[in-house]
Amino acid sequence: MKVIEIEGARKLKGSIRVSGAKNATVALIPAAILTDEEATICNVPEITDTEALCDILKLLKVQVNRSTESVIINPSEMVNTEITEPFSKKLRASYYFMGALLGKYKKAVMYFPGGCSIGARPIDLHLKGFEALGAKVTSEKNKYIVEAEELKGANIYLDIASVGATINIMLAAVRAKGTTIIDNAAKEPEIVNVATFLNNMGAKISGAGTSTIKIEGVDYLHKCFHEVIPDRIEAGTYIIIGALCGEELQIDNVIPEHIDSLLLKLKEMGVELDIGMDYVKVKKQEHTLQAVNIKTAVYPGFPTDLQQPITVLLTQASGKSKVTETIWENRFMHIPYLNKLGSDIDVKNQTATIMGPTELKGEEVVATDLRAGAAMVAAGLVAEGKTTITNAEHILRGYEGIIEKLRLVGAKISLKEIG
Ligand code: EPZ
Repeated sequence: MKVIEIEGARKLKGSIRVSGAKNATVALIPAAILTDEEATICNVPEITDTEALCDILKLLKVQVNRSTESVIINPSEMVNTEITEPFSKKLRASYYFMGALLGKYKKAVMYFPGGCSIGARPIDLHLKGFEALGAKVTSEKNKYIVEAEELKGANIYLDIASVGATINIMLAAVRAKGTTIIDNAAKEPEIVNVATFLNNMGAKISGAGTSTIKIEGVDYLHKCFHEVIPDRIEAGTYIIIGALCGEELQIDNVIPEHIDSLLLKLKEMGVELDIGMDYVKVKKQEHTLQAVNIKTAVYPGFPTDLQQPITVLLTQASGKSKVTETIWENRFMHIPYLNKLGSDIDVKNQTATIMGPTELKGEEVVATDLRAGAAMVAAGLVAEGKTTITNAEHILRGYEGIIEKLRLVGAKISLKEIG
């Protein structure tokens, strides 16, 4: 098991460069099999999710040429093999292969794990979308078989503006006969990045980034070159860390409008920000921060993926803050560990109430999921003394080079393998 150790209460100074977005990358890699030629994707983060998806490509006999920041994917000799559980269970986003294989071959067979720690994470909206396009879905336990005689464009209304369902339906529809309309589509920037990738191949997708996406099916998708957008959640995490213990921290390779809701909340708390075209400068304020209320929402609302990291900052604000989680039913598993570090947080239903400011002292804590792990790193950087974070594998799934990036700005942080 991997463990992160931090000697906290140090000021961080310098600059951190944000990597390519995990939540775009995990859709782009499966989507790449839709081309009839070759896809080159650059600015691909070196995180375990990327490797897990490249392993699935190799299982499907796709040629994968991985270099430092890019991957060249050539599916011209690929085989539509069943994706077994050891491959698909490494990350939930493996479900994008369902839409991509259905879109390319009209058939996908994969074992797909149920929920995960932050919630049940059903995929009913994905499957309803596939059925609307003419596919038949059969599932027994964790095995899904999705197949269609023919895929025909359809009007699909999503009961929930689901990121995954929006992207998966786009992947299945891009080569269908006729036009598909996705209504109440999610608007996250990662969806726009995937739509741009597919259009670079010759697809005809319009409206990505709005709640109505139109996909006109095409017969052929050609060679293309594409770049992953910067990771807005990674950027937000480091900006929060800067507000916690930055002397003068510059976060580079940021698209500020992708994190508008966070930046506005930070300003409401009294955090001074220098926001440039593609960077944000932030530091720990001399004055105490103001408590605020936060409610997570679909984009462009406050991102659920920053709910856990910002809670750490709220423990340092004076007064009572409330954080309400509206997307996931079980995304407060970091709270007991923050309280172990010295915070004063009470959770009732989907709202955490934070009293601050509180002194944080180093302790042994656990990363229960990816963003809870990020919150533990943020807390460990503030806490007096040594903080040990076990199950650090969760953190490495979504933060490329986190140890090096933080060390470079003065953090005393290390990664160990134990047991
Ligand atoms: C994506 O998950 C992200 N993951 C999540 O980030 C993020 O928290 C989430 O979007 C919301 O922004 C990736 O992009 C790989 P959803 P996704 O479908 O697509 C319900 C991280 O930390 N729902 O938008 O799985 C679902 O239960 C991860 O990087 C259904 O009911 O999220 C949830 O309550 C965590 N049926 C809500 O919709 C479905 O078929 C939103 O889920 C699909 C979803």
